[in-house]
Amino acid sequence: MTSDKVLIGVIGGSGLYHLDNLTFVKHVNPETPWGFPSAPITIASLPSGTQVAFLARHGTGHTFSPSSVPARANIAALKSLGVRAIVAFSAVGSLREEISPGSFALPTQIIDRTKGVRPASFFEGTTVVAHAAFGDPFSMGLVRWLEERVRKVLEEEGRGVRLFTDKCIVCMEGPQFSTRAESVMYRQWGGDLINMSVLPEAKLAREAEISYALVATATDYDSWRPHSEAVTAAEVFKTLKDNADTSRHVAARILDDLHAAISVEGQGLLLEEVGSMKFSIMP
Ligand code: ADE
Repeated sequence: MTSDKVLIGVIGGSGLYHLDNLTFVKHVNPETPWGFPSAPITIASLPSGTQVAFLARHGTGHTFSPSSVPARANIAALKSLGVRAIVAFSAVGSLREEISPGSFALPTQIIDRTKGVRPASFFEGTTVVAHAAFGDPFSMGLVRWLEERVRKVLEEEGRGVRLFTDKCIVCMEGPQFSTRAESVMYRQWGGDLINMSVLPEAKLAREAEISYALVATATDYDSWRPHSEAVTAAEVFKTLKDNADTSRHVAARILDDLHAAISVEGQGLLLEEVGSMKFSIMP
């Protein structure tokens, strides 16, 4: 059985401000209790006719820094449209030699270096005490589903873009990049990738019971390599456009199948988050 609802949300990061091969339907800008999303959300239809929602995390003209992204409004706005799974894209630094700029990765773990700085819960300021399970911060059903499809698309594209899986991403507070000492420390902690945006997005998606996965696109080697320049914005920009092009190809090729996978009622695929908050609210 298929559904007419907008079940899939795509969040685009730096460089990814629209998707390809979709037919524009409308813009919506839902006001939530946490304000408006970063940008009006584009509703567009896939070749099959089913609709997806696209949101530019940093705003259409990249006006929100990672620390000021209205993440609660973004997730609440997508939820209000009926979104059940979010595929988020983000430019990341690489903390590992083998993950060269231009590589893609699907992380499965996060180290939080933004704690206490960004509002990270819908329950803040309320009298409801909720502790969502976050041991597996990404939705593993969605991650494993994406792994197979994204790898296939990257192989068929023939651009030599590699996909890494089961990696740990450090989410740091910006806007400055890390020092060399921090970058080395994150490697020692087990970090493989670093960005400024996966949190609180992933936490809020969990609280909203939306399946969430990150397609991380490497732009640089951060600042840990002793004989290389430390990362600069200019270096990040060098790879951003190619990564965004590849991201658009990937999205165009997988979203129809993802919609079909989500729409199969009772199959359980990608529905692991539904109902999870029931067990997180303190009685
Ligand atoms: N986004 C892209 N590259 C990054 C880096 N090196 N550190 C933090 N965020 C990033």
